Amino acid sequence: MSEERSSARRMRPAAAPESRSRSGAASADADRHSFRVFQALPVAVVLSTLDSGHVIEVNERFVELVGRRREELIGRTVRELEIWAIKGEGAQIVDRIVREHAISEVESRFKRKSGEVRDVSIAAELVDLDGTDVIIGMIADVTERKRMENELKRSREQLRQLGAKLEQVREDERIRIAREIHDELGGFLTVLKLDLEAISKEPSTASPAFRRTLDSMQRTIVSGLGSVRRICSDLRPSILDHIGLCAAVEWQTEEWQTKTGVRCVMTSTVDDESLDPGRATAAFRILQEALTNVARHACATTVHVRLWTEDAALRLEIRDNGRGFSANKDGASPSLGVLGMKERVFPYGGNVEIQGAPGKGTVVDVAIPLAARAS
Ligand SMILES: Nc1ncnc2c1ncn2[C@@H]1O[C@H](COP(=O)(O)OP(=O)(O)OP(=O)(O)O)[C@@H](O)[C@H]1O
Ligand SMILES: [Mg+2]
Repeated sequence: MSEERSSARRMRPAAAPESRSRSGAASADADRHSFRVFQALPVAVVLSTLDSGHVIEVNERFVELVGRRREELIGRTVRELEIWAIKGEGAQIVDRIVREHAISEVESRFKRKSGEVRDVSIAAELVDLDGTDVIIGMIADVTERKRMENELKRSREQLRQLGAKLEQVREDERIRIAREIHDELGGFLTVLKLDLEAISKEPSTASPAFRRTLDSMQRTIVSGLGSVRRICSDLRPSILDHIGLCAAVEWQTEEWQTKTGVRCVMTSTVDDESLDPGRATAAFRILQEALTNVARHACATTVHVRLWTEDAALRLEIRDNGRGFSANKDGASPSLGVLGMKERVFPYGGNVEIQGAPGKGTVVDVAIPLAARAS
């Protein structure tokens, strides 16, 4: 017997009363009592010898779990009974019990006589029963719990996919609206502007009052066209399509600085060629939300925006020196802005980390893995 085995805990046998010879009615009563308790345990229990794997005793719950009668189990080996659903797993678990003497919460799968497979959680101990090394296994059927866990995982995954899909739908809708406004409204205003220019060249419109009205109309139209451009680029920064993410980020940070009066320093070392529209849009929208958050919550005086690539990922960092973001303390669901940032990178397996401490500013750190290029 190995050193480990010899250190197995010594126990009195806990087998059926009829299997042992004892003198005295009191002792027989005690045996019957402990056997009844053993049978009534709310967890499946099996006793088997370590060396040969023969089943010595089982309780009712174990009988129910493996779907076999007690007589079918006692005296047969675990291997013969083909209880382990995954080949070789039983031997591994027994090895672990020998090494560690006791194990708990080891997940595995049992096969019932009918072939049905159940998920189980095993606790086991190696004990010395009258000089024989015996494994006492306590097995909980966790099939239902596992099913619910998987169901929960699946619905979380579906929810995330739905979120990502919604973002995509919103983005497509924005593109469509931007195009409509640009083509329809922008088109009308351009025609009107050209007509006014033509009218103003007419000698018959030379009266000063008329000219003032014409000038005013022209100014209104130019400002209208400016509004159309601004609305369109808010909806869909065409700059993203035309000159790429770097320039779009530069433009956005300048616009934001002018609008808020907060200094915004931008550095970029990204090669736009390496980016596809989806990733570029995700990064750009995250930047917009992060800058909106700085303006709304941070009371910062300076923001640093950095765009670079590292370890085959597009990286974006927005660092402010404001009052600092602090994680949701009450565990309530996060607000939509931060959630939206995370959803944006989800389809690409990316990550958004927000760190901040009161008085030390906030850092939004974005990593979006780049698509492997076809060689
Ligand atoms: N740069 C920042 N500095 C300080 N606090 C911040 C900063 N960014 C975010 N926060 C904090 O994190 C919270 C969550 O931000 P989030 O963008 O998710 O929500 P929100 O801006 O309040 O609302 P919305 O859903 O409209 O974006 C904010 O309410 C704010 O308290
Ligand atoms: Mg926000």
